[in-house]
Amino acid sequence: MTLAGKKIILGVTGSIAAYKAVFLLRRLIEEGADVTVVMTRYATNFVAPLTFQVLSKKPVYSGMFDPDQGKDIIHLYLNRGADVILVAPATANIIGKMANGIADDLLSTMLIAARCPVILAPAMDYEMYENPVVQKNISYLRNLKIDFVGPETGLLASGDTGPGRMSEPDDIITFLEDKLGIKGDLSGHTVLITAGPTREAIDPVRYISSRSSGKMGYAIAEAAKSRGAKVILITGPASLTIPQGIEAINVITAEEMLDAVMNRLSDSTVLIMTAAVSDFRPAEKAISKIKKGEAINLKLIKTPDILEEVCKKKGNQFVVGFAAETEDLITNAKEKLRIKHLDMIVANNVSLPGAGFEKDTNIVTLIDKEGKIKEYPEMPKSDVADMILDNVISKINKGYNG
Ligand SMILES: Cc1cc2nc3c(=O)[nH]c(=O)nc-3n(C[C@H](O)[C@H](O)[C@H](O)COP(=O)(O)O)c2cc1C
Repeated sequence: MTLAGKKIILGVTGSIAAYKAVFLLRRLIEEGADVTVVMTRYATNFVAPLTFQVLSKKPVYSGMFDPDQGKDIIHLYLNRGADVILVAPATANIIGKMANGIADDLLSTMLIAARCPVILAPAMDYEMYENPVVQKNISYLRNLKIDFVGPETGLLASGDTGPGRMSEPDDIITFLEDKLGIKGDLSGHTVLITAGPTREAIDPVRYISSRSSGKMGYAIAEAAKSRGAKVILITGPASLTIPQGIEAINVITAEEMLDAVMNRLSDSTVLIMTAAVSDFRPAEKAISKIKKGEAINLKLIKTPDILEEVCKKKGNQFVVGFAAETEDLITNAKEKLRIKHLDMIVANNVSLPGAGFEKDTNIVTLIDKEGKIKEYPEMPKSDVADMILDNVISKINKGYNG
């Protein structure tokens, strides 16, 4: 909730990219912002005001001379107390109007009257964007300290590729947070998280795996992202949606997970290894499906120990391991912490009703390098995620890492 308490005016103008403003609004609301949407008349041809109204839970403003507006002068009243006016998408038209002091509708008048920072996220086809007048208007506004986020170069609504694509909502939010001086407590950190199970093939249709759903790892990824970290999520097969704004690397086997972790180890400052990696794999994978029979002998061999490899090769990274146990929880977790040289271990007894695989809650005990033990009650996995990150940050701030 990095934008809690921030009052944001979201201006939406007449571009195909107006649909992206719907996602942007959702993300702003998720981050706790108080958003008022102002649409140009043409913007309402692209997305119905009702969509923004329902998501923002507020009226959407468009006209300046609506008789129902009451006693306030709308373009001044809406601006008051705003932390920022964000126009996304910003058409060539609104940019031109702002650069030339034209105030002929509600949004353009609000922009002229604005006393708060203004951020424009242009969106247009490359022919429009490269027009010298549009470029002159952008330069002029930049000189007046108006901020621009994007546009990106990429596939445009016309089907062409070029500059003019509106920045993605998460990139706009990151820009906005920087502009408003908001830094999460994990800002500047890259958190690498492993999640989910791995699958080790027996034959083309069968595999050895675990019951891990990935919920714990995904919750940590989401929490770390909203606290300002860059997040790399290395995930085994899980039927969960990748959280917004996160770099996800999909893997299947323990070997692939090890490679992915090693490839990104040097990019990360914190590693949180929640994946329930299969400890064994069949010594040989049958090329064709093994036929049904009375019994088969399956020789299993050890898979690579990802935590051990990480701790051998790591530099200053802070490494958190997970121990899923069904007995002697604390003894086993302490042993794992010591053998693998972890900075912290999260132990959970997966046999308890409110803990472990596939659940939305967890019951965990945190053990640090110094042997300090903290026990926690049953909590939603999202709260467990934040609690783990609180502990990591507090250790890092005390200089414990490495
Ligand atoms: C289908 C369609 C898509 C358009 N997309 C854009 C666009 O992406 N960027 C832009 O600057 N203008 C675009 N336009 C043109 C604007 O809608 C037009 O310039 C309008 O006057 C902008 O008004 P406004 O800035 O008040 O919303 C588009 C027009 C149409 C019909």
